[in-house]
Amino acid sequence: MQQDRGQWGSTVGFVLAAAGSAIGLGNIWRFPYVTGNNGGAAFVIIYLACVLVICLPYLLAELVLGRHTQRNPVGAIAAIKRHTPWPLVGGLGVLTGVFILSYYAVIAGWAFGYIFKTVVAPGMPHAEFAASPAIVVPLFAIFIVLTVLVVIGGVEHGIERWAKILMPILLLLMFVVIIRGCTLPGAGKGLEFYLMPDFSVVTGRVVLEALGQAFFSLSLGMGAIITYGSYLPKTANLWVSGTSVAIFDTGIALLAGFMIFPAVFAMGKDPAQGPPLLFEVLPEIFTHMPFGGVVAVLFFVLLSIAALTSTVSLLEVVVSFFVDERRWTRSRAVWVVGGIAFVVGLPSLLSQGANTTLSEMSLLGNTSFLFIMDFLWGNLSLAVGALLLSIFVGWVWGITRAGEEMNQGSQAGPGWIRLWGFFVRWVCPVLILIVLINLFGVFGE
Ligand code: PHE
Repeated sequence: MQQDRGQWGSTVGFVLAAAGSAIGLGNIWRFPYVTGNNGGAAFVIIYLACVLVICLPYLLAELVLGRHTQRNPVGAIAAIKRHTPWPLVGGLGVLTGVFILSYYAVIAGWAFGYIFKTVVAPGMPHAEFAASPAIVVPLFAIFIVLTVLVVIGGVEHGIERWAKILMPILLLLMFVVIIRGCTLPGAGKGLEFYLMPDFSVVTGRVVLEALGQAFFSLSLGMGAIITYGSYLPKTANLWVSGTSVAIFDTGIALLAGFMIFPAVFAMGKDPAQGPPLLFEVLPEIFTHMPFGGVVAVLFFVLLSIAALTSTVSLLEVVVSFFVDERRWTRSRAVWVVGGIAFVVGLPSLLSQGANTTLSEMSLLGNTSFLFIMDFLWGNLSLAVGALLLSIFVGWVWGITRAGEEMNQGSQAGPGWIRLWGFFVRWVCPVLILIVLINLFGVFGE
């Protein structure tokens, strides 16, 4: 039908590639600092509840929509409801992909730069590093080009092959860092912060942050999973694949917390210092390790790769739209969209100290252009997208038809479909709506 689309070589390949999309800076950089900002353990519990009750059923909804239609987010919705405003929801997803890519690649560029920084300039403060355009502009550009090159390789040979080799190595290295962090004197305080909940710190804002973080971390709400699901064969078991992705992703986020918090407290640092957290704390742990320099280099190499498998999925969503709907060639789509993300990302890049106006601007408690973008696209837009898409799958397409597709490649009983349907039709939209309304209530005060 469409020769340019491609398909995963195996279900395992899909799970690893989708886990590769999900696992990235969201887990290793964003989860710890958002947890730190929001008071620790209580936030983690709310986060886990969001994953289980909202994100997992919703993830299956994106997956089933993608595989059924074999299309990008816009085409997938249009295949079911053409000539309605619904495909615009897919359009919002594609747009969100470009915007998230634009600032995500900035942080990914930092991770990439730290490979060399740990060797060449270990003493340079993170703030100075992030504020030097001569350093961060080339890193950002390199990262976008790397993403472009992988996506040009296409589905099976580009994305799948890399994900398969590299994700297991990352996991191994995280364990090494965790063991070191947890055995530092004073680490116990960090474990307490991370594991002993204090629910008095929970506000509406904290819940929104938890939900937004869960969507972001699982790559939900903008069609990445629709797109990856669209390359799945009919024989794949969606229940198992979807649940495995959620388990991998959540597991890695939780591990990242164990990597960071014991060390933060052992070193007497502030867990609520925000986005620089990972970049401030990890290099310090490495100095307390035998062969710390080697571990540091290896760690940032793998972090960059984890980020790359995520930027690849962000770009892939947008590219699949142009390939399917606009009949562009893959390489043209990839270069054009990569170029746009680079230009759109420049203000985010310069907002980390290089330019005062961009660095000091603030919206609803989010300071700097980059974090305003992250709030608008990486949090709000994903929640809105997921709200609309769960309504679309649950009510417009309908659980009966979606359920038939769900069960191709699996033998789950009707009870499972009913349970899943209840979550997609009621629980997801209602809870997301409450959280969103609450957000405006919180800021309206
Ligand atoms: N889930 C990715 C991460 O945690 C980021 C991402 C968000 C990727 C949305 C694709 C879509 O790093």
